[in-house]
Amino acid sequence: MRVLVSGASGLLGLNFCLRFASEHTIDGIVHSHVLTDLPFTVQSEDLTEEKNARTLIECYKPDLLVHCAALADIDACEQDPDRARFLNAELPGWLAEECEQHSVKMVHISTDAVFDGTQEGKYVETDATHPVSVYAQTKLAGEQAVRQVSYSAFIARVNFYGYSISGRHSLAEFFLRNLQAGKPMYGFTDMEFSPFYVLDLAETLMKGIEKDLHGIYHVTSPQSQSKYSFGVEIARKWGLNEELVSPRSVQEADFLTAPRSLNLALNPGKLEKALGIQLPSQQDGLDRFYEDYKDGLAQRIYNLNIE
Ligand SMILES: NC(=O)c1ccc[n+]([C@@H]2O[C@H](COP(=O)([O-])OP(=O)(O)OC[C@H]3O[C@@H](n4cnc5c(N)ncnc54)[C@H](OP(=O)(O)O)[C@@H]3O)[C@@H](O)[C@H]2O)c1
Repeated sequence: MRVLVSGASGLLGLNFCLRFASEHTIDGIVHSHVLTDLPFTVQSEDLTEEKNARTLIECYKPDLLVHCAALADIDACEQDPDRARFLNAELPGWLAEECEQHSVKMVHISTDAVFDGTQEGKYVETDATHPVSVYAQTKLAGEQAVRQVSYSAFIARVNFYGYSISGRHSLAEFFLRNLQAGKPMYGFTDMEFSPFYVLDLAETLMKGIEKDLHGIYHVTSPQSQSKYSFGVEIARKWGLNEELVSPRSVQEADFLTAPRSLNLALNPGKLEKALGIQLPSQQDGLDRFYEDYKDGLAQRIYNLNIE
């Protein structure tokens, strides 16, 4: 299959491309990070330009578009709402229109942050959305733009962790780096989420594509935990000092610009039923994250030759 992946230098896009490069023909679109020595092609495009976005499908003629590009930094969205709107809200709609016109399957990556986090328990796909930040509002608008023009698009609401080119993009990397450096850090006890290891996410998305899923699915770990307990679990897995992770309330954090939803635990039951599988647990994900580290994946990603 010929797969076009936007955001191929990002945490999800890069891991997806590396995972499937030996099975499919992959073309990656990056923006500011031009990666080289990769097992797939990359091209740099500014996708805030409508004409660049609209010519992608015609140019690459993919069977599948996996759209990972976004302004995914929640605080950066608050500071530059116009950029957030172009990347998170407008761009998915332009791409979905082009995919429809050329009969190309689209996977659109959305977020758990479409919910306001006030509900008890895990969110299902039919629960009411109520975004509380510019990031969340623009991502929800992106979902809606895709749905408006495409019945066949597979829209995945996600939350994930893994190894990124900067070595500091995901929350797991934040904990790991500080733990390894012996630096104390905080973990929020009142923020609940369902993080999925990025390679489990990539493989689950591919299973959804093979089943030709369409519409909205929660593609997360079936369990949830607090950000604090996630940090402690990482310390335990690596045999590092868990005392370095201090419990703290997000209400005490003075360095966050954008408002955060407290409960972002999602229920992926609709997806498990559609795929006929049980998704990997939090423990399975953390075990794989650790094994991949020992096998050198983190270092290989950090060492990627960046121009
Ligand atoms: N990380 C999470 O836990 C999480 C949680 C919920 C939802 N999501 C969603 O998952 C998706 C992937 O997130 P991620 O964490 O992998 O993102 P990321 O690491 O921040 O990567 C973003 C990607 O978008 C590209 N990009 C940014 N501006 C662009 C532009 N003007 N033109 C073309 N490409 C541009 C970046 O390219 P360059 O780096 O080359 O500039 C990069 O490849 C996003 O839709 C995000 O909203 C992520």
